[in-house]
Amino acid sequence: MVSEVFRLLFIMENLEKICQQTTQLARNVGQYIKAELGSVMVEAIEHKSLNNFVSYVDKTSEKKLVEGLGKILPASTFLTEEETITSEESAIQWIIDPLDGTTNFLHQIPPFAISIALQYQKRTVLGVVYEITRDECFYTWEGAAAYLNGSVIKVSVQHTVEDSVIATGFMPGKHDWMPAYLDIFTYFINTARGVRRHGAAAVDLAYVACGRFDAFYEYNLHAWDVAAGALLVQQAGGKVSDFRGGLNYIFGGSIIADNGLIHEEVIKAIIPSSL
Ligand code: IPD
Ligand code: CA
Ligand code: CA
Repeated sequence: MVSEVFRLLFIMENLEKICQQTTQLARNVGQYIKAELGSVMVEAIEHKSLNNFVSYVDKTSEKKLVEGLGKILPASTFLTEEETITSEESAIQWIIDPLDGTTNFLHQIPPFAISIALQYQKRTVLGVVYEITRDECFYTWEGAAAYLNGSVIKVSVQHTVEDSVIATGFMPGKHDWMPAYLDIFTYFINTARGVRRHGAAAVDLAYVACGRFDAFYEYNLHAWDVAAGALLVQQAGGKVSDFRGGLNYIFGGSIIADNGLIHEEVIKAIIPSSL
């Protein structure tokens, strides 16, 4: 117990250094992913479910990240999308999407990214999103600003949805909730300055953090899609909630992230839906 407290203190006092090591690792593994671009044969692509793909690139990236992060923080545990490692849940846990935007990657369309979050007792204390195609590393840690390649980033200053670019995503597959979800999409198409579907949720969140997007919402995402990006948005001055305005946005499957100024307006558009 005492050693656990010391370990926590060590981590909290060294978050900046841990973040710096994590960004370096993400950049290194990103080089591996980039080198594989255009090389994945059709036979090497597996269907996880309808229109949900994975290849050896996602899995190799994950193994490299787990190995590297295990060296940065020995004895930490992992929640990873591709489950190349199974570890008990613990107070200090990495949450990893080894390749967010797999379909983009397979079709050689930008963007795609690595997303890494560090949580202490389910509170995210560090987040890194490395967007590989533009060599853009977004990162933050508890108590710090949010950064893009060394420069501080901030959310946008748009006050209305009418003046905003709103990003969203669609979980692959057929879902009975899709009609309700499309109603929200229609609302924003009719109301906002523009709507974008990027194909990489971690990057969508990073783009909210740096003000390129004014808001992002998506239904049915996983913790590895959003944990790092949500912290980026918050540390850049934005607001994050679930579709009901609550705080269950990492493990709860719905997320709204924006500049804070349009949060109420975005929620008002979503709450009437049956989602
Ligand atoms: C997907 C992307 C996409 C989102 C999907 C996710 P993956 O993640 O983030 O933008 O719409 O719901 O599953 O499978 O490419 O890591
Ligand atoms: Ca993902
Ligand atoms: Ca992924």
